[in-house]
Amino acid sequence: MQSGLSGGGLHVAIIMDGNGRWAEARGKPRTAGHLAGASAVRRVIEAAPALGIRVLTLYAFSSDNWKRPRPEVSALMRLLERYLRTETASCVEQGVRIDVIGRRDRLPQRAQRAIADAEHTTAAGTTLQLRLAIDYSSRDELVRAAAHGPQSRDELAYWLQSFAGQPVPDVDLVIRTGGEQRLSDFLLWESAYAELYFTPVAWPDFGRDALAEAVAEFARRQRRFGGLAHAVQSAAVAS
Ligand code: FPP
Repeated sequence: MQSGLSGGGLHVAIIMDGNGRWAEARGKPRTAGHLAGASAVRRVIEAAPALGIRVLTLYAFSSDNWKRPRPEVSALMRLLERYLRTETASCVEQGVRIDVIGRRDRLPQRAQRAIADAEHTTAAGTTLQLRLAIDYSSRDELVRAAAHGPQSRDELAYWLQSFAGQPVPDVDLVIRTGGEQRLSDFLLWESAYAELYFTPVAWPDFGRDALAEAVAEFARRQRRFGGLAHAVQSAAVAS
């Protein structure tokens, strides 16, 4: 049996869902939910290293999110830009390296500049690799990688990695908040053997304890990667 936790640190990917409903339940505009969601991002980044997380990929804006009303899209873009501008210094202090994955060419210029600055300024961070997926579609990334004509899994993985910052291991754990249970075009290749964890907690209410609970549940899972649990496998080989 391969236990959930590995020595090299975990790659956790989070679909941060439920901001809009969180806000609506409080009689607030949906954008207030995204703002509260940014605070949850801060909490999770602070908590991650002590929980054994080395890579954290957050789904901040999917390529399908362009379909949302323009004011909500603009508010999200401004929020992302402001977050990158205001949080970079504390990321440097905490040893957090920021890499953005996804398309950049459709983002507002100001957001593109904020991304480039944040990546540059935090490049030396080694405690936690924070990957923000912005204008991200896993299927689009797979099409881009396939256009290079890969002949093997490794070659395809190589091209996928080449679109992002620093190479990262496959995803160990996918967390989705907000009660829905789907992947929504997020890291489909990289999560091939990830454990999935769904929680009804809305993203703005997510924090250290909720993250710790998800990691604890992950540690209880048996990861077999298509093989057999270790004890069973040894017995089978011996017979
Ligand atoms: C999904 O909730 C969430 C998003 C589309 C945006 C995620 C963005 C943030 C958490 C803001 C800050 C991010 C960073 C990296 C600073 P939803 O709006 O679909 O919620 P609903 O399903 O309740 O409508």
